[in-house]
Formats: sequence, structure tokens, C-alpha cells
Amino acid sequence: MKPEELVSLALQARENAYAPYSNFAVGAALLSADGEVFTGCNVENASYGLSMCAERVALFKAVCRGKRSFAAVAVAAGTGDYCRPCGACRQVLAEFGGHTRVYMANRHGAYSEMTVAELLPEAFDL
Ligand code: THU
Repeated sequence: MKPEELVSLALQARENAYAPYSNFAVGAALLSADGEVFTGCNVENASYGLSMCAERVALFKAVCRGKRSFAAVAVAAGTGDYCRPCGACRQVLAEFGGHTRVYMANRHGAYSEMTVAELLPEAFDL
């Protein structure tokens, strides 16, 4: 799958974001190593700390379906800047390997690309 397609799926997933507190809607689309796509959006809560990022929603959906290896993930927000994953999402993605490519997109679908290992060097691991 082309990066542009994954970015487009992330922008689509963003439309279901539940973000009434931050008004910052995020979408993610995660491509498993065997070619399936899992999407996610951020889901906020009145108890702010219980909110969940789009990337982790997508990743947890995939893990629940038995996926353990990921080729790429696209993350998109409604900004002109590229949307970069937060530190918590970097750590959670790193759990499944630093090789995963991360496409960080803006509202127009333009993106920059790095790997998880580049985004989180020296990640914590046991
Ligand atoms: N957010 C994500 O969904 N992914 C990130 O990597 C960064 C932040 C969400 C969390 C919160 O709902 C909103 O963006 C503002 O921080």
C-alpha cells in the first residue's frame, strides 16, 4: 500500500474523532506486516487523563486481532503542520518494533516520514 493511501485513511478516520475538550481531532491508520489496515481516532473524556490518542486506538485494535508486527502507521491532524506522535504513542509503537515507518501528515495529506526508532531512540525495553 502506498503511503498516500494510508495517509488518506488516517484523514478519514479523523472524522470520527471525539475531541470536544481539545478540539484537536487526530486520525491514524496502521498497516500490519501482513497487509491489513486498522484505523483509530482520538477519544477524549471529561476526566481528561482518560483520553486516548488515535495511534494507540489503532494499535490496540490491531493487537486484539492478533497482529504483532507493523509495516507503517499514518497519523494526521487538521493542521498545516505535520502531526507527530506523542511520546506515549512512540513508546507503545516501539513495543512492536522500531522498524515501523511513521507517516506524519497535515490536513492536505502532505507528510514527513521517519521510523519509530528514529522518533524514539534508546526506547525503554525489558
Ligand atoms: N493526540 C493524538 O491522538 N495523538 C497524538 O500523538 C498526539 C495527541 C490527541 C490527544 C488529545 O485528544 C488531543 O490530540 C490533543 O492533545
